[in-house]
Amino acid sequence: MIEIRRARTADAPGIGAVHVSAWRSAYAGILPDYYLARLSVQRQAHFYDRSIRMGGGVLVAAGRQGVVGFATARAVRPNELGDGEVETLYVLDDFRDAGVGSALLRAAGQYLAGRACNAAYLWVLRDNPAHFFYERLGGKLAAAGTTMVAGKVIPQMAYGWNPIAKLIEQVISGQ
Ligand SMILES: CC(C)(COP(=O)(O)OP(=O)(O)OC[C@H]1O[C@@H](n2cnc3c(N)ncnc32)[C@H](O)[C@@H]1OP(=O)(O)O)[C@@H](O)C(=O)NCCC(=O)NCCS
Repeated sequence: MIEIRRARTADAPGIGAVHVSAWRSAYAGILPDYYLARLSVQRQAHFYDRSIRMGGGVLVAAGRQGVVGFATARAVRPNELGDGEVETLYVLDDFRDAGVGSALLRAAGQYLAGRACNAAYLWVLRDNPAHFFYERLGGKLAAAGTTMVAGKVIPQMAYGWNPIAKLIEQVISGQ
C-alpha cells in the first residue's frame, strides 16, 4: 500500500532517486540531454535532506518499495497567480496512472491550505504532457512564461486553483 505523508530525512535518498529518474523520463527531448545526464541522485538527495530539515513542505508517496513519488509546496508572497505554489510533483514511471499523482497534489493543496494559502498554482513546462493532468484536475490556465534551464529558454505555463478548496475538492472527485 502506498502512503502519502510528510517526508522524513530518511526519505531523502529515495526522493533524490525519484527526482533524477522522473526528470530523465519526463524531460527527454525538452531539456538538453547533457543536462539530464549530469543529474546526480546524491546531489538531489542532499538538497531534499536540507529542505526536510528546514521544515519545508516535502510530501512523499511511499510503500514497501520505498519512495515512489513526491511533491513540494510552499507559501509564497501573494502575487497575481496566488499565494501557494506547488513547486514539484513527480511519480516514478512504474507507479503512474494509479492515483498517486493526484493524491500527492491533494496533499500539497492541504499542506498549503494549512498555511493559510487562499489560491494555489504551479508551473509546468509547455511541452510536458503533464499539463493535461492538471487540466483534468480542474487547474485553470493562468499564465504563460519562460524559465531558463541549462542556459536554454524553455516555455512554461501556470495552472491555478482559486480558491484553493477547488484543488483539494477536484482532486478528491478525480479519484
Ligand atoms: C504528472 C504525474 C505527476 C501524474 O501522476 P500519476 O500518478 O500518473 O497521476 P494519476 O494516476 O493520479 O492520474 C490522474 C488522472 O490524470 C491522467 N493523467 C496522468 N498523467 C497524465 C498525462 N501526462 N497526460 C494526460 N493525462 C494524464 C490519468 O490518466 C488520470 O486520469 P483518469 O482518472 O481519467 O484515469 C506523473 O505522470 C509524472 O510524474 N509525470 C512525469 C513528471 C512530471 O511531468 N511532473 C509534473 C511536473 S510539473
